[in-house]
Amino acid sequence: MVSAILEGKPDKNLILVTGRAHPKLAADVAKQLGIDILETTAYDFANGEMYVRYTESVRGADVFVLQPHSTPVNKAIMEQLIMIDALKRASARSITAVCPMLGYSRQDKKHLGREPISCRLVFDLLATAGADRIMSVDLHASQSQGFFDGPVDHLIAMPVLVDYVRDRLDLSNIAVVSPDAGRIKVAEQWAQRLGGCPLAFVHKTRDITRPNHAVANRVVGEVKGKDCVLVDDLIDTAGTIASACHVLKEAGAKSITVAATHGVLSGPAVERLRDSGAREVVLTDTVPIPESKRWDGLTVLSIAPLLASAIKEVFSDGSVAELFDTYPTHHGQGFLFA
Ligand code: R5P
Repeated sequence: MVSAILEGKPDKNLILVTGRAHPKLAADVAKQLGIDILETTAYDFANGEMYVRYTESVRGADVFVLQPHSTPVNKAIMEQLIMIDALKRASARSITAVCPMLGYSRQDKKHLGREPISCRLVFDLLATAGADRIMSVDLHASQSQGFFDGPVDHLIAMPVLVDYVRDRLDLSNIAVVSPDAGRIKVAEQWAQRLGGCPLAFVHKTRDITRPNHAVANRVVGEVKGKDCVLVDDLIDTAGTIASACHVLKEAGAKSITVAATHGVLSGPAVERLRDSGAREVVLTDTVPIPESKRWDGLTVLSIAPLLASAIKEVFSDGSVAELFDTYPTHHGQGFLFA
């Protein structure tokens, strides 16, 4: 009798839900997947607390909860947490927290005594809420995925960005530049993907007692006369990128193209980027970038196809790693995880 009831039911049921942080990205991912987003009622109470409820059953479904931790970060995180909690209590079969940008990713270690490791806490909160799996793009430090005691699909936006840059620059004259020593490994992969071009980095120092305060001192490596591709995981106030552009120009760079995954663009970022002398700034849409923060020199690439492909692979028990082995197919060689 029971098996008769179950007959004809699909083995698996994929559901995509989203919070209110980036509805456009969720819609783009749903379109790529060829599904509708499950409707969620969500609103704020007068005191700032949030309420969510799904309008249909999620029982037995593999649910993907898409929400980048964009500004206001704490609200985006909390909304995703209560969405996950609601799914757990409504008997979803599996819950994947899709965080295209993970909040607090930069706070992955203690620099001084008596500091928190906030990135670890965010992973713990997602686990406590009920997430079985986490999917994110370009964590600030790849090894942070070890903060979660379960599968973490760490996607990299590099294939998307490299493809765009490769088609627009003279490959024989490129140098890839890391804006600080910490991202050299990622920059090295960029250089490999761009035909083994020269690599340089900016020696940056920061005052760890002040937020968003970094000083680019000098360029290490040869950039004179080069078309420089300056790569970073995120641009927040653009202090890092603007000062890196400054020292690159001083070192005789011919042109600068900035490529970064997360365009947070807080405070003076847009003004700084416009005045930086970069010929183009290329970002992805892991976080929303409103029209008011766009200008002619900015290109925003869609991360939706990558997220949708990864969701498809996870749902169908395929391989996310192979996704990067074959992406972009027309350029051969795959990507290593930094
Ligand atoms: C630092 O290590 C990061 O990779 C970014 O370069 C930095 O956090 C960006 O912040 P801002 O744009 O405020 O300099």
